[in-house]
Amino acid sequence: MLELREVDVAVGKRKILSNINMVVKPRELHVVLGPNGSGKTSLLNAVMGIKPYEVIKGSIIFEGSDITQEPPHVKARKGVVVAYQIPPPIKGLVAGRFAEELMRRFNVESSYAEVLSEVLEVRDLLSKYLFDKMSGGEKKRLETFLTLLTKPKVALLDEPDSGVDVESLNRMSEALKVALSKGTSMVLVTHSLHMLRLLRDHITSVHVLYGGTVVHSGLYDEVVPSIERYGFSGALTQLARMG
Ligand SMILES: Nc1ncnc2c1ncn2[C@@H]1O[C@H](COP(=O)(O)OP(=O)(O)O)[C@@H](O)[C@H]1O
Ligand SMILES: [Mg+2]
Repeated sequence: MLELREVDVAVGKRKILSNINMVVKPRELHVVLGPNGSGKTSLLNAVMGIKPYEVIKGSIIFEGSDITQEPPHVKARKGVVVAYQIPPPIKGLVAGRFAEELMRRFNVESSYAEVLSEVLEVRDLLSKYLFDKMSGGEKKRLETFLTLLTKPKVALLDEPDSGVDVESLNRMSEALKVALSKGTSMVLVTHSLHMLRLLRDHITSVHVLYGGTVVHSGLYDEVVPSIERYGFSGALTQLARMG
């Protein structure tokens, strides 16, 4: 459904990612792991078409058509959404009003919104301005809620776990499972081994990003325990040895 073909990404003249290939089918959960600065955020933003990240080579195919150079709002309308690593506060816009507007535009039934809101415990956050005066964990729960609420075809999630406590990680994982069961595919960037463990049975593939390229893609059991044990560079040596 979403396919990246030999994609290179640059910011200005600087190339950040090279030769990224990925095929995401309906209801699949793809995980991207990699050390800080390896290009995870750049990858998600480039897929979405957010400046200053630019696809300078290769193509992004969505449901059979080339969307490489389409602007973010066009992609969003087609059902591709991204959740930011650090959502910016938007004063003057009440979170609940925004959620209602999204539900109206995307024709979301209120039972689905109820379930998500329950699982992510965002009810108290909906009366506040968007991401204003919220803790890191609250921001991430609300961001995940708003991202999944529209039942996107593909959700690109950038570290929904960052700054989130264990209780919220459990809720977050539960919410992702709910959305997967409703037909949303995901590309999930995370550093949380706890979250990966909770999602293990749902994970299609784990892609290891290192120095701007995917150095390994494999199943959870092949990749994650090795990274947990040896760290990124150590795991890559191990994986290379295994061929
Ligand atoms: N807006 C930007 N302008 C210039 N360089 C950037 C920008 N965003 C990211 N980079 C660079 O791209 C590389 C990858 O960054 P990023 O995608 O944020 O990595 P990650 O999310 O894996 O930590 C880093 O070297 C970073 O400095
Ligand atoms: Mg990042």
